[in-house]
Amino acid sequence: MKEEMIKCAYAAMKNAYAPYSKFRVGACVLCYDGSMFYGTNVENASYGLTNCAERTAIFSAIANGKKKADIHSIAVVSESEHLITPCGACRQVFSECLDPNTVIYLSNGKKEAQFKVKDLLPYPFSSEDIQHV
Ligand code: THU
Repeated sequence: MKEEMIKCAYAAMKNAYAPYSKFRVGACVLCYDGSMFYGTNVENASYGLTNCAERTAIFSAIANGKKKADIHSIAVVSESEHLITPCGACRQVFSECLDPNTVIYLSNGKKEAQFKVKDLLPYPFSSEDIQHV
């Protein structure tokens, strides 16, 4: 299934909106029921508003009714020489929206790696940290 996810993430990458960085990224979320949700990076002239591919894919899964417990894994791909790993903002979103043991597959077409959510962001800020006095 990992190879199928990587293939779908590359297909999604072709839809990347990256006129500023020209750096295309694709992602594919696989759910336990077999459904898949795709994402690309979507940039903005106000650079900080850019949404990364993996966040787009997760938000798409959620927008289509999927919950944390429904998501099996996620693949993130790029054309980079180096294997890229998700940015800090995406790691924080993983920690909110995915189970700590969910696997993230990474590929650049030459190299592959995989990590669990809990290993990409140990000690995340979470709902448990929000206390009102
Ligand atoms: N980007 C992603 O979509 N995912 C990552 O894991 C790393 C970075 C995007 C954001 C921006 O559009 C471009 O790559 C360059 O930073």
